[in-house]
Amino acid sequence: MILIAEKYSSFAPLYDLMSAEIPIYRAGRKLGVQSLDLRAGAQVIDVGCGTGLNFRHLKERIGLAGTIVGIDRSAEMLAQARRKATRHGWTNIILIQADATTTPSESIIESITSQGGRPLSDAALATYALSLMNPWEAGWNMMRKLTAPGGRLCIVDMQEPTSRIPGTRALARLACSLGGADITAHPWKAVEADCVDVTDGTARAGHLQIRTGRQTAT
Ligand SMILES: C[S@@+](CC[C@H](N)C(=O)[O-])C[C@H]1O[C@@H](n2cnc3c(N)ncnc32)[C@H](O)[C@@H]1O
Repeated sequence: MILIAEKYSSFAPLYDLMSAEIPIYRAGRKLGVQSLDLRAGAQVIDVGCGTGLNFRHLKERIGLAGTIVGIDRSAEMLAQARRKATRHGWTNIILIQADATTTPSESIIESITSQGGRPLSDAALATYALSLMNPWEAGWNMMRKLTAPGGRLCIVDMQEPTSRIPGTRALARLACSLGGADITAHPWKAVEADCVDVTDGTARAGHLQIRTGRQTAT
């Protein structure tokens, strides 16, 4: 796990170029954000936000007045996210360096409110992040604790594709293991178990799984 954390920190300046904005994974981010059905002015949590590749899609929906709370354990990935926000003139971006599996949600809430945010958010999202966490259930619990009752929660993550095109499965397995993701974790099952009004989506021959649901009272 420490090695994976170092990997993301070392490659942070190259992350957007190397892996993330290739069209395969952008499709999942866009579908995930779309499924949150966000309104202008909403506050959204992005757990394992990395370099902020969801921010553009989120800002298109919540506008400048809306707030993004990005949480990531890598200071270097967050520095890239900060740079991106500054470059685009996005305001109301709160970035918090924290391990989502061990940090008490109370301390995250304190950090959010001390930076002008609301204690509970309207929605929470994790794209390609929970499958890297151990245990991923702790990251999911944080998402739930930071979201208001009735708010939407979305997990976008990866599994082995169902495609019969030769090499596709092996390639997906390789990409995930290089990135430190557990392709067998299937964290979206938590949305099905813990939320109501669940919608599902898939892309890229089943490699990308998108689940979104509504938070019940916690
Ligand atoms: C594959 S990247 C995905 C980044 C972004 N969500 C995206 O869609 O491009 C996974 C991110 O999760 C972060 N991460 C992994 N484990 C974490 C943990 N326990 N707590 C917080 N962030 C974590 C990594 O630092 C990395 O930035």
